[in-house]
Amino acid sequence: MSNKIQIFDTTLRDGEQVPGCQLKTEEKIVIARELEALGVDVIEAGFPISSPGDFLSVVELSKNLKEPVVCALTRSKKEDIDVAAEALNHAKRGRIHTGIGSSDVHIQHKFKSTREQVLEQAAWAVSYAKTKGYEVEFYAEDAGRADLEFLAKMIEAVIAAGADVVNIPDTTGYCLPELYGKRIKYLVENVKDIDKAIISVHCHNDLGMATANTVSGLINGARQAEVTMNGIGERAGNTSLEEVAMILETHKDLGLSTNIKSDKIYALSKLVSGMMRMPVQANKAIVGANAFAHSSGIHQDGFLKHAENYEIISPETVGVPSSSIVLTARSGRAALKHRMDLLGYHFEGEDLNTVYENFLMVADEKKMVQDEDLVVLAANMPVLER
Ligand code: KIV
Ligand code: ZN
Repeated sequence: MSNKIQIFDTTLRDGEQVPGCQLKTEEKIVIARELEALGVDVIEAGFPISSPGDFLSVVELSKNLKEPVVCALTRSKKEDIDVAAEALNHAKRGRIHTGIGSSDVHIQHKFKSTREQVLEQAAWAVSYAKTKGYEVEFYAEDAGRADLEFLAKMIEAVIAAGADVVNIPDTTGYCLPELYGKRIKYLVENVKDIDKAIISVHCHNDLGMATANTVSGLINGARQAEVTMNGIGERAGNTSLEEVAMILETHKDLGLSTNIKSDKIYALSKLVSGMMRMPVQANKAIVGANAFAHSSGIHQDGFLKHAENYEIISPETVGVPSSSIVLTARSGRAALKHRMDLLGYHFEGEDLNTVYENFLMVADEKKMVQDEDLVVLAANMPVLER
């Protein structure tokens, strides 16, 4: 089994479903080109039958992208598959992503159907999509809550029908990492001809487990991860691209790698956040404003002695210009001295104690102390060594 993980980006489909995040086709092209430069392997461009705008986006992305596979979502319906096939006409490499619910709750309450009927529909949709001449990926919606034996039967049937990739979504973000990993392992061990298809993991973040579940799935045999930039997506979001890429990069011991050029991550995160009008939370892993900021005195001191004391990834690796030390009332002398030194003011001994006491008074008044405050503090010191 290959150790290369295919990165399937669905920022422009699952991510774009978030209310308020809708993009124009021209904006989608800009983001898609950057995703291509980042090194993603597959870009899900939209759900062509859902609207003329989504149809156009799939057409335009198919024309504009050279390297990544362009993917179009469908339900397991003839009209959806026909429209997706038409939209992908210009793609160098196109993929139809078709599927149906696999859990009893979806089968009974969404489709008002039976296990036998959805199984038949799933196999039919894959064999019909195959007639269009594209790669076919099948999604077993809500696989995280499906009966495992039934899920295995469904996956076996769609592989027999020709599926190239089988997607096992935890649609509702229900699974725990161990549980999700076991599901993937069960499929690897029990589905006939499983090696004829790539297993894909697609996780949602309702319990904050999306990234952990995705990594667990990869450890247990999946070879494609479905992700979005900044983890945007329905409800609490999808698995975040930057987290998966940097986990595999940081934990080389897992023996798994991606084609992601990590130094392009930060800029793309900003682009997606700006265009989709979706701010990134400050403490978001990898791309949040505080991801490389050290604010407590103990941490600042340790970081300044040796960055690896408090950083497992250097900010440059993901394209963040440099670590920032945020000066607050909890900062220590070491951090103040470091910033003052950078500004050209060199305090030692008693002078440092005095300027530090003055600094604390300013810091108590303001939440963060800026360079302009430090210059004023320094200027008010009686003795200055420069
Ligand atoms: O979460 C999900 O199940 C999906 C499928 C359409 C792949 O987004
Ligand atoms: Zn999804």
